Amino acid sequence: RKTGKLLGKRVVITAGGTREPLDPVRFLGNKSSGKQGVALAEAAVDAGADVILIHGHMDVAPPQNVKLHSIQTALELRAATLSAAAGADVVIMAAAVADFRPASVSMGKIKKRDDVADPVISLVRNPDILVEVVAHRSAQNLSQLIVGFAAETGDADCDARSYAEAKLKRKGCDLLVVNEVGPDEDGAERVFGQESNTVEIIALDGAEPVHAAGSKRAVADAVVALVAERLGTS
Ligand code: C5P
Repeated sequence: RKTGKLLGKRVVITAGGTREPLDPVRFLGNKSSGKQGVALAEAAVDAGADVILIHGHMDVAPPQNVKLHSIQTALELRAATLSAAAGADVVIMAAAVADFRPASVSMGKIKKRDDVADPVISLVRNPDILVEVVAHRSAQNLSQLIVGFAAETGDADCDARSYAEAKLKRKGCDLLVVNEVGPDEDGAERVFGQESNTVEIIALDGAEPVHAAGSKRAVADAVVALVAERLGTS
């Protein structure tokens, strides 16, 4: 029989990157590998949860034993996530969502032409899905736990932690998993697609931040443990 910290909990996880079409053959995308989201799905399944993984483009195969929903664009991700979130105990938004999409999608392939000027792409803002999931947390689902992700860089004005705390308040999710990107202490670039991760998990209620580092699975296990603790099932 299945056992685990999240036994029978309905967990929705988003992963990978969205792709915003420009024409029938081109898109604006991002470098998200989907690895952290897949590791989260595996960790949640191993903890006994029923997992729906809503995923955009990923460099890795989706895991076994989860319900898969594949999407391309931020608007598709939004529709799938809001619908799945309605019945979820936990929503974890690990997807890299395009902040902007092309204002219009060309019906035909955009061609280079010598008789007209080169095209200029104008962009419009995508909705913030995480903010919408928080807003839709329904009266009968007030105990739903919502987890966001954020990649932050510090700068001269403000460190990464302060930016992350401001983002947590703005988004209103319960937990925010923050990874600091940009050059690390040794000057090495921290980029997308790596096998390991170093994060601080900060909480809207001001609970002490939790540090997790190691493989993406180790980070996923730390997130799952914290989620279980918050649901009172650990
Ligand atoms: O604002 P930023 O992109 O740093 O926020 C990251 C978090 O918000 C992630 O959890 C991401 O999945 C989510 N997000 C979203 N909709 C967007 C942009 C980000 O849900 N349009």
